[in-house]
Amino acid sequence: MVKPEKFIPTAIEEIKKAAGNEKVVVALSGGVDSSVCAALAARAIGDRLVPIYIDTGLMRKGETERIKTIFGDIRLQVVDAGDEFLAALAGITDPEEKRKAIGERFIRVFEREAKKSGATCLLQGTIYPDRIESEGGIKSHHNVGGMPLKMAFTKIIEPIRDLYKDEVREIAGALSLPPEIQHRMPFPGPGLAVRIIGEVTREKVEVIREANWIIEAEIVERYSPWQCFAALLGLGTGVKGDNRIHGWIVAIRAVNSRDGMTADPVDIPFAELMRIGSRITAEIPRVARVVYDVTPKPPATIEYE
Ligand code: XMP
Repeated sequence: MVKPEKFIPTAIEEIKKAAGNEKVVVALSGGVDSSVCAALAARAIGDRLVPIYIDTGLMRKGETERIKTIFGDIRLQVVDAGDEFLAALAGITDPEEKRKAIGERFIRVFEREAKKSGATCLLQGTIYPDRIESEGGIKSHHNVGGMPLKMAFTKIIEPIRDLYKDEVREIAGALSLPPEIQHRMPFPGPGLAVRIIGEVTREKVEVIREANWIIEAEIVERYSPWQCFAALLGLGTGVKGDNRIHGWIVAIRAVNSRDGMTADPVDIPFAELMRIGSRITAEIPRVARVVYDVTPKPPATIEYE
């Protein structure tokens, strides 16, 4: 296990040396890896760090505001690119095409913003398992577009490249990052888009964001799952009031896992599931039906696309 009191000063020195007098840009996602990198770099090079947060419009409810608050004092640049991402996703139904469109758009927006800042170095929160998995080709789809990003900069700085996730969390604590960052559930780069079956539209994103908010509020603290979220499966018939409606079908996904490679559904009591389902259909008028996903990984993946 890494020792924070040794690791932190060494990493700060490494960043200082690598950056020289140049500006360094980092894409902050709010995840623990990029947050730790940004916190280390802020200590190393102060104002020469350019932290950029791209709001893809595919983030969870309140996420952008939370990140603005947490990183306000390192002058976080927030790029509101929601419309751009929705436009890039219009008409796309194939899961791989969706991931590709999001990855490409992300790189375009990031490079555009990075160029404006005059930064020549890129700071990346690559950790040890990322390197192993991308070398082995297992998670290539999780790193869409990693290459073009690298090519636009003269230097890449990866201060946590030898750490495991639990070590990164430990460093986050030692750097006094808030608990919601230190213990944040995994959230995929393509965001809510991989939790929507078929085309991503503004309405679907709005519905899934609200459902996800309720599910996290009901499940995270009570069951401490490795990951839980809402997915949007499609339309189904329902009755609300005196009317038959064609409403959205929401799936609740809650799993326990060690590393995301395999996973088991969380054993939530049936009465609790019914209560959460009722809350979702009551609070989101456009939802007609709620189901609980009982499938382990394998054969299902954790995300839906
Ligand atoms: P799957 O769905 O493949 O997911 O069982 C395993 C774990 O990886 C996360 N995941 C992603 N993380 N970019 C990411 O950074 C992605 O494109 C991506 N897709 C899946 C997923 O949330 C789960 O924790």
